[in-house]
Amino acid sequence: MTDFSTIWQFNFPTVIRFGAGAIGELPGHLVANGLSRPLLITDPMVAQLGFFQEIKQALEARGISAEVFSAIHKNPVKSDVLKGGDAYAAADRDSIIGIGGGAAMDVARAVVLRVHHRRDLFDYDDLIGGDQYVTEDVPYFITVPTTSGTGSEVGRSAIISEDDTHRKRILFSPKLLARIVFADPMLTMELPPFVTAATGMDALTHNLEAYLAKMFHPMCEGIALEGIDLINRSLAQATHRPDLESRSRMLLGSLMGAVAFQKGLGVVHSLAHPLSSLLDTHHGLANAVNLPYGMRFNIGGSEEKFGRIASVMRLPGRDGDAVVERLFAFNVELGLPTRLREIGVKDEHIETLADLAHADFAHPNNPKPVSREDFKKLYMEAL
Ligand SMILES: NC(=O)c1ccc[n+]([C@@H]2O[C@H](COP(=O)([O-])OP(=O)(O)OC[C@H]3O[C@@H](n4cnc5c(N)ncnc54)[C@H](O)[C@@H]3O)[C@@H](O)[C@H]2O)c1
Ligand SMILES: [Fe+2]
Repeated sequence: MTDFSTIWQFNFPTVIRFGAGAIGELPGHLVANGLSRPLLITDPMVAQLGFFQEIKQALEARGISAEVFSAIHKNPVKSDVLKGGDAYAAADRDSIIGIGGGAAMDVARAVVLRVHHRRDLFDYDDLIGGDQYVTEDVPYFITVPTTSGTGSEVGRSAIISEDDTHRKRILFSPKLLARIVFADPMLTMELPPFVTAATGMDALTHNLEAYLAKMFHPMCEGIALEGIDLINRSLAQATHRPDLESRSRMLLGSLMGAVAFQKGLGVVHSLAHPLSSLLDTHHGLANAVNLPYGMRFNIGGSEEKFGRIASVMRLPGRDGDAVVERLFAFNVELGLPTRLREIGVKDEHIETLADLAHADFAHPNNPKPVSREDFKKLYMEAL
């Protein structure tokens, strides 16, 4: 039952310029805001791509000095952020543009924090109350997503791992929101099929988990249902026969997923996170494999919501079992694995994975409680 005597807070503040060619507005936006020395933060792969070089050239053609920092890991670590902060200072920058997938945008967001906040980076860890130290101004921050997955472009947090243990830490502050997002589906056109599928399943997981999460947030639930529909209709097309329409729908679905998951995530993300820490599994792939199992676990108690998901997905059966069946079939259609063994998980990993999953930050918002034993059972089922 909803408690209507409580006061809730809903935030949807980000300015998003969305559409084919939106990136063309970036140089003019910088000039209009008196900015001329951005640090472009990306990953080493994207730095080599044609569109990245074109963005840099377009900036330089307007007299903007564009310095690039791209020395980051696939699952970003603290030392990446410290080096990015040093690069900002050494080259006397006035703004930060995060261009790439979730990894690049997370490093960019953490560097935004680092520039004027000089305590140890993990003193700002949200889970130990670190946001109280986020007291200073931050540089002007712009995000440009080039995958359709994490939705980090509209986020306020950065997931950065410890260098030695690979434990994931969360830096969070409303100040870390991008001032503007340039979301241009044309930049995602050449994403390889595997990356499209894995990042797309991450976005689907955000929408599904946000919709089911137990917090009261009807606005996020509406966004999540529309996000589920957009992704369900376009991910196979975007993976196997990409066109502007499917790429556009995926980019929308992914940023809507991240807006929606202010409401919370759940059991699937807690199953997925330890796989990245322990085995360096890509975040989207880890979610994709665990998604049908985690959703099956959640059906009991959320039957009505699963009925709505099934209806949005236009499934022949209008219940949770139909949704789970569709998710298994979806992974097969996308060429993704359906078993943890296929991504290198072994029996001897299960106990450690269960410990890490139980300690994870995502599942307290799951619609029903998840015990350590539940995590172990879920990993065994998926093995
Ligand atoms: N901030 C958040 O809320 C949040 C949420 C979930 C995950 N994350 C983080 O995001 C990261 C995962 O992000 P991701 O799924 O976007 O993957 P990613 O950033 O690792 O990118 C995947 C791969 O695609 C390549 N790539 C990116 N854009 C491309 C393009 N347009 N064309 C061709 N190749 C391209 C990249 O170089 C990389 O090799 C993880 O580090 C995870 O921890 C953050
Ligand atoms: Fe995710």
